[in-house]
Amino acid sequence: ERTFETILVEVNGRVATVTINRPDKLNALNTTVQREMAEAVEALDVDPGIGAIIVTGSKKAFAAGADIAEMAELEYPGTFTEDFMGNWSRLTRARTPLIAAVSGYALGGGCEVAMMCDIIIAADNAKFGQPEINLGVIPGMGGSQRLTRAVGQYKAMDMILTGRTIGAEEAERAGLVSRIVPTDDLLAEATKVAETIASKSKYSAMVAKRVTARALQTTLAEGLEYEQANFYAMFGTPDHKEGMTAFNEKREPKWDR
Ligand code: CAA
Repeated sequence: ERTFETILVEVNGRVATVTINRPDKLNALNTTVQREMAEAVEALDVDPGIGAIIVTGSKKAFAAGADIAEMAELEYPGTFTEDFMGNWSRLTRARTPLIAAVSGYALGGGCEVAMMCDIIIAADNAKFGQPEINLGVIPGMGGSQRLTRAVGQYKAMDMILTGRTIGAEEAERAGLVSRIVPTDDLLAEATKVAETIASKSKYSAMVAKRVTARALQTTLAEGLEYEQANFYAMFGTPDHKEGMTAFNEKREPKWDR
């Protein structure tokens, strides 16, 4: 197992937890966090022993955004040629389901990392926002696109143009968050969700994630075709035979691991 400078990676059974760990900076996402998260998630993604990955931070901050100290000195040519934010797309290529467990601040890049995950579970103290406008910039890790798809044009515009922060209740009403739990129960709940997903057929979970995520990227007709092609492909996996045979034999399935 590798050790990292800015994140902690822990594996329990089939569930991995990636914890952003810069507590003195409210988990501000500098380029090291970015690279380490990409490397960690990529390695876990191709590990057949891992069925779900929790992404979390501390009680006070999931992440308070991209690192402003680091960004303050940047100039356009370098951000472009070095692809300053490029490593984040490595996270979004994970086929394994990612579950964001958000406590405290999820601002700017923090909100955007949560939205790179497939499910967002919020502690009741969670605060989501895209305050980049207050720094003279705009969201740069997907906020303008993923937030708009998640909560709709008008709520997203409200948040992005005013920079205001919303609480867990408002985030759940808006569809950003799928469940809210007491802060102290956050990791237990996220672990329960992750274990549930990890207990399923890995083929099904990976393909279901991919097909569902495609819904926001394509037309309905193309999306339906993509779903159907992938549905047919499932008949080539051992888990299809096992899952349906187990049902017919009235027993629990034993998935290919
Ligand atoms: N980058 C770098 N450092 C940060 C940070 C950030 N995004 N957020 C907090 N910190 C640091 C603070 O500078 C402070 O460090 P020092 O102790 O060394 O001074 C430490 O974390 C604790 O922060 P505060 O003292 O500010 O804590 P607070 O409880 O008083 O306030 C807060 C909390 C309201 C979240 C406040 O820290 C804050 O407003 N942070 C910035 C939020 C923000 O603007 N995020 C968007 C960043 S831009 C972005 O993300 C771009 C993008 O889309 C890619």
